[in-house]
Amino acid sequence: MKSDPSLPLDGQRILELAARSMFDLFANASEGMLLVDREARVVWINDQYKRFLPALGFARVEDFVGHPVSTVVHNTQMHRVLETGKPILIDLLSNKAGTFVVSRIPLRDEAGQVIGALGIVLFDHPETTLQPLIQKFASLQRELDDARRELATQRRSKYTLASFVGTSTAAVEVKRQARKAAQSSSPVLLLGETGTGKELLAHAIHAASARARGPFVSVNIAAVPDTLLEAEFFGVAPGAYTGADRKGRDGKFKLADGGTLFLDEIGDMPLALQPKLLRALQEREIEPLGSNKLVPFDARVIAATSRDLGALVREGRFREDLYYRLNVLPVKVPPLRERRADIPALAEVLIEDIAMRNGAAPFELDADALAMLSSQRWRGNIRELRNVLEQAAMRSDSPQIDEALLAQVLADAGIERVPPAPQPAQRAGAAAAGTLRPLGEQVAEVERRAIRAALEATGGNKLAAAKLLGISRAKLYERLELTA
Ligand SMILES: Nc1ncnc2c1ncn2[C@@H]1O[C@H](COP(=O)(O)OP(=O)(O)OP(=O)(O)O)[C@@H](O)[C@H]1O
Ligand SMILES: [Mg+2]
Repeated sequence: MKSDPSLPLDGQRILELAARSMFDLFANASEGMLLVDREARVVWINDQYKRFLPALGFARVEDFVGHPVSTVVHNTQMHRVLETGKPILIDLLSNKAGTFVVSRIPLRDEAGQVIGALGIVLFDHPETTLQPLIQKFASLQRELDDARRELATQRRSKYTLASFVGTSTAAVEVKRQARKAAQSSSPVLLLGETGTGKELLAHAIHAASARARGPFVSVNIAAVPDTLLEAEFFGVAPGAYTGADRKGRDGKFKLADGGTLFLDEIGDMPLALQPKLLRALQEREIEPLGSNKLVPFDARVIAATSRDLGALVREGRFREDLYYRLNVLPVKVPPLRERRADIPALAEVLIEDIAMRNGAAPFELDADALAMLSSQRWRGNIRELRNVLEQAAMRSDSPQIDEALLAQVLADAGIERVPPAPQPAQRAGAAAAGTLRPLGEQVAEVERRAIRAALEATGGNKLAAAKLLGISRAKLYERLELTA
């Protein structure tokens, strides 16, 4: 302990005595004490400590004292105390001798220099003396491990190219392009109408690439408020903000390190943030918010949009340089109506998936029903096809779905029906029958119809559609997700 020159002489004496008695108290009350010098070499242990030597694998004190602490005490942190000069007041130490509650305190000379450290074993067998604490610690640790595992599975990609169902010329071609894109590390731009499978392809490209073992991280740009996007992308440096973000937070670029970053709805990227994204892509470095440091990142970028990026560039709403940076490997994902041949196979896979999720047996479509599905325009593409099949599954009492039920579902979903062949008049009251159903279902349908109409009116622009509907963009996304 440093003497305090402001104290009268007998005051200093008392302080020294206090330090001494504290030391004696710890030496007697604790389960053991150990001193290391500046070089982290054990210089002294007390009598109690000697009890641990056999369990640590030492028969004689000389085999222990005089040796570097890290070679004689497995998992020790004494060197950290020497390095940082900061005490570790309470910690759990586990090694072959058992688990101990320990305390580590740096020792300083008159000038304040760290000259060694004191290690105190406060309790041995904490599993009995500190049972509630240890149990809580173990259960928190387990929860943390579970959460980490869960996160890792989420970050792994969900789909492979085999999940992209279709053998039509258009489908085969898009898969060929995706496979080619997977071989390269340049940015990929997925273009296509809503519900055509862009997100699925992004996952599949990642899974087929050399980065498949790395994380797949996606940002839905349209669903994140503009003001939060920068932090979401680039992260926040520690201390940049007060409150919850005080510790700093990794951005998606960082999280995608070694893997793939999927920038969904890139057409909705706010103009103000585009230069920073461009710089990141060009320099392969990011600057977390509130830091002045550039941090390199290693992530392959895949972007997607259902909007006409070329038109956005012409209107000055998307930077041309960013467009070219992203458009290195463009992949056009064809709408369902340009690959009708895939509809039967898609319907089969979707039905199986729907049945599995509901824990029910898969249903079948009769030939007329299938013909009707194949002739629709499918503005919402595969997502819309899936919704229709889901509705049909919900409404049908039999495992066989016929044309009449399907016609009703299409009508209720507000899909303008295209007849397979000119053979109308079979189902007069079908639409009327649809009105005597639970209110919730009907409201949901009206909502779906309104969203569809708004998306059509705005050419798929979700921000504009949300404005038309008087809801936030995030709300619109929530709705789209619910019906996806
Ligand atoms: N070829 C396919 N085979 C099987 N399922 C598919 C296929 N393409 C898309 N799907 C399914 O259709 C749904 C919509 O696909 P996805 O979300 O990838 O579309 P998207 O192009 O990203 O749409 P949006 O532009 O609206 O975000 C998902 O449930 C997806 O699994
Ligand atoms: Mg998508």
